[in-house]
Amino acid sequence: MTSRVPLIAGNWKMNLDHFQAIALIQKLSWTLDDAKHDYEKAEVAVFPPFTDLRTAQTLIESEKFKIGLGAQDVSRHSSGAFTGEVSGAFLSKLNVKYVLIGHSERRQYHSETDEILNAKVSAAWQNGLIPIICVGETLEELELQGQAAVPIAQALAALSGHETLGEFVIAYEPVWAIGTGKVATPAEAEAVAKALRAAITQEFGQESGNSRILYGGSVKANNVAGFLASGEVDGVLVGGASLDADEFAGIARFQKHIVL
Ligand code: PGA
Repeated sequence: MTSRVPLIAGNWKMNLDHFQAIALIQKLSWTLDDAKHDYEKAEVAVFPPFTDLRTAQTLIESEKFKIGLGAQDVSRHSSGAFTGEVSGAFLSKLNVKYVLIGHSERRQYHSETDEILNAKVSAAWQNGLIPIICVGETLEELELQGQAAVPIAQALAALSGHETLGEFVIAYEPVWAIGTGKVATPAEAEAVAKALRAAITQEFGQESGNSRILYGGSVKANNVAGFLASGEVDGVLVGGASLDADEFAGIARFQKHIVL
């Protein structure tokens, strides 16, 4: 098994206002604290909308169980005339630890290119945030290029050209599996994680090859264990199922589901 601590990340997308965030975080924190011994080795983080972050931060700091905080995006600029954007500097002041970069919905609906995402990775590092670089192929790309080619190209494009690499996480999310109920098999996720790790190690050296690689796309409490069993996949990025405290806590307690 790997020594990389699994990361269970909940991407709320554009769901839950800051009142609803309070209810979910409290319930999650209580549920996880009750069963600490079961999942000690996993790190749990939530990624609420920007407007919830301040409330979530205050709440998380007062709860017994320490849930990590992430943001769903970051500006590539540090400050200035960029209406509607949010600087990494503001996020780090809220004790945000992680930031999602290049989620397929941002690539698709906001035309985020590899170049923009590469600059966002820099912005994250400059502000002490850990980028979670989301990569994944569409169904069409899967048929034409196989499963690993696009994720590898996207990961290398996001990481290349930086003077030094900071800490990062890669989330492999096949676009055809997001919110569709269609799930990659554990063997497919494992194969892509291995291929990603090999390509990153070859390009940037052994240390970066030890970064965590997550799987995302229709993960639920009843299928999470399969993805994590081999030790190649170091956690999951969860969308829909992270909006329900019991379901998300069930995912965080994945070790219980692994049949040895
Ligand atoms: P899903 O979303 O779990 O609802 O498929 C995953 C994601 O978009 O990160």
